Amino acid sequence: MLGNFTYHNPTKLYFGENSLEYLNDELKNYGKNVQLIYGGGSIKKNGIYDSIVEILKANGKNIIEDAGVMPNPTVEKLREGVKTARENKVDLLLAVGGGSCCDYAKAVSVSVNCDDDPWEKYYIRFEEPDCEIIPVGCILTMAGTGSEMNGGAVITNHEQKLKIGHVFGDEVMPKFSILNPKFTMSLPKRQMVAGIYDIFNHICEQYFSGDDDNTSDYLAEALMKSVIKSSLIAIENPDDYEARSNIMWTATWALNTLISRGKDTDWMVHMLGQAAGAYTDATHGMTLAAVSLPYYRYIMPYGLHKFVRFAKEVWNVDTNGKTDEEIALAGLEAMKGWMQKLGVALSLSELGATSDMLEGIADATIILDGGYKVLTREEVVKILKESL
Ligand code: NZQ
Ligand code: ZN
Repeated sequence: MLGNFTYHNPTKLYFGENSLEYLNDELKNYGKNVQLIYGGGSIKKNGIYDSIVEILKANGKNIIEDAGVMPNPTVEKLREGVKTARENKVDLLLAVGGGSCCDYAKAVSVSVNCDDDPWEKYYIRFEEPDCEIIPVGCILTMAGTGSEMNGGAVITNHEQKLKIGHVFGDEVMPKFSILNPKFTMSLPKRQMVAGIYDIFNHICEQYFSGDDDNTSDYLAEALMKSVIKSSLIAIENPDDYEARSNIMWTATWALNTLISRGKDTDWMVHMLGQAAGAYTDATHGMTLAAVSLPYYRYIMPYGLHKFVRFAKEVWNVDTNGKTDEEIALAGLEAMKGWMQKLGVALSLSELGATSDMLEGIADATIILDGGYKVLTREEVVKILKESL
């Protein structure tokens, strides 16, 4: 049953190859001091940085540079960004990059006017912000996380070997996000496919939960089919604008709260992947790919009906003469074939994990209860061993 829920997403989106122009309009809504957040320099190589700086200057803004946000942003970088924002009395946090920059901007936004240490407050005690939040805007250069239209902010603490996400509410979601598919075209293939798998898995995490006739699941199937089709075009021809724009738009809708309405949602692939990420610092989408097949094979008997539906609706599996179990397994085989075509990681060892890390990764795995099987710690270890 769909049940009772609220749906509200306050992020305004500007999509398409001319979308950066709208930054001019948006900047009028905020004060003078703009913290320009970006990563390791890709935006300087592909020219996006120059275009943005030109717009900021034309609108009379003071630019406060905040470069070097690393993939899987760290708690140390977060504390540094908070200090920069405080010292410069920042009015807008403008993130230019992928999920790491957008997540980091949100984590800074809730911490600038708050006395507590952000890691302790938001990632250990999971408190909600009780201080003034600095507005965030995103200019996306990598499609995958959905961070451009959600409240998620994942931070890594290498010292404690933890990678934790806090999903904040509406007031922390970006005020606006600019999505130009052309900006994603300079992504190396490895990053593009990691993002594609991340999108697909976000949909799976919401789909493999419950067994009702839920509109959210029909939407999920349509999004899965779109990203599969476009990904196969994009790996052959990365400059195909239609495919790249479909991938970007699917990423946004895969994780902007729409398809989780009326669902418990699973998120165990992310819990396993994030724990592995805390140990290896590997690319997010790759960690998910490495644990997915062992996890789904393990839980399949507990949600057989849904895995049969997945095989039929998403992968067009020929059901003739097959038992339900055979159909479900054929669906997962088809998914594996697609993952191999993309070239995503199919094992944790490819990402630098070793067997002596597994107990620690299991300890860092948060066990959630929205999927078809609430795992025990022993089952987590078993799945991790199979993923190695
Ligand atoms: O740092 P630069 O030089 O910009 O390079 C980046 C980075 O090395 C590069 N890149 C991005 N756009 C590019 C480009 N290179 C060339 N051309 C471009 N146009 O790509 C690399 C990866 O970027 P990153 O932002 O780290 O990737 P992604 O978007 O996958 O974000 C990953 C982070 O988001 C979190 C992950 O855990 C991870 O920390 N997530 C956030 C979520 C959310 N907010 O809801 C949900 C996700 O499940 C995920 O956990
Ligand atoms: Zn993800």
